[in-house]
Amino acid sequence: MQLTPQELAALRQGPLPAPPLPRPRGALTELLFKSLSGPVQPLPPTPPIAVDLLSDDDAVLALYACYELHYRGFAGVDDTWEWEPSLHAFRGHLEAAFLERLRDISGPVVLSDDIESSLHALLAAGDGPSLSEYMASEGTREQLLEFHVHRSAYQLKEADPHSFLLPRLSGAAKAALVEIQSDEYGEGVEKDMHAELFALSMRELGLDDGYGAYLDVTPAPTLASVNCASFFSLHRRWRGAGVGHLAVFEMTSVEPMGRYSVALRRHGFGPWARLFYDTHVVADAHHQTLATRDLAGGLVRSEPHLAADVLFGAQALSAVERRFTEHLLGCWKAGRSSLLAPVLVS
Ligand SMILES: [Fe+2]
Ligand SMILES: [Fe+2]
Repeated sequence: MQLTPQELAALRQGPLPAPPLPRPRGALTELLFKSLSGPVQPLPPTPPIAVDLLSDDDAVLALYACYELHYRGFAGVDDTWEWEPSLHAFRGHLEAAFLERLRDISGPVVLSDDIESSLHALLAAGDGPSLSEYMASEGTREQLLEFHVHRSAYQLKEADPHSFLLPRLSGAAKAALVEIQSDEYGEGVEKDMHAELFALSMRELGLDDGYGAYLDVTPAPTLASVNCASFFSLHRRWRGAGVGHLAVFEMTSVEPMGRYSVALRRHGFGPWARLFYDTHVVADAHHQTLATRDLAGGLVRSEPHLAADVLFGAQALSAVERRFTEHLLGCWKAGRSSLLAPVLVS
């Protein structure tokens, strides 16, 4: 699909600036952000992590910020912080608590005959509420905007977490990931990168498409989902889980993306706002096969001992996304915003 000259002009030129550090949400982020604002040096002693890394806003944001140092970073934060050993030790404590909770909510990993059948069985057994069905049929315009604010935490860096998996794979799995990622990055054309298409949707909705623009209002269930992608992809140990995570992303995309496009149309938004979703309906029809047969299947054929990790990553994503959906629908049913504060729309 060709963009008009006006749309091309509206596309952001050059790299997006790094966002400022968000506001702290408690003792952990107070300590972390105060340190990150200064010169690189060992972190002061950190309090013990005794909170839920899926729902505690302070701890979840602390982990998100640690990971963000591997992506765009933050304005005013020395890039050298990325590999400061004491920060990694702190992140390790957060990750241990996060992994424990991921295992809690994922349940036991039970493999069937092969990894492809196991992934299909997992998704067939899913019985949670459907956010996309709600949005397509009854979600309000305000809820549609909120949904985009939530998703911007991931979609404006879409594909970046899983790119960290590339050097950890080989053979058929690597080739499949390269093909998927190439599409996610618009086959090298800036305006076609999926993150750019999502930014276009945000502008069409009157939202700020700046990277990290809504971090201060983004709650723990949303950031925990992004953390899940970063955790699996940044640790070679968890490359199997990262592959399972991406496989579920691709396998659960086509129908929901079509429904979000319907939701946008229902509220009067045109083809530019829907382009991100319509593109995924087409692309992920192919990606879902690539991701199960060649990515997950290819990895398990070359490293059979990773089969349980692949399924764990798939189950973890399904569970985290279910909690995300329950958060949004629960807040909306109670008549309140699902964000930490309502957003202003230009
Ligand atoms: Fe995509
Ligand atoms: Fe995809």
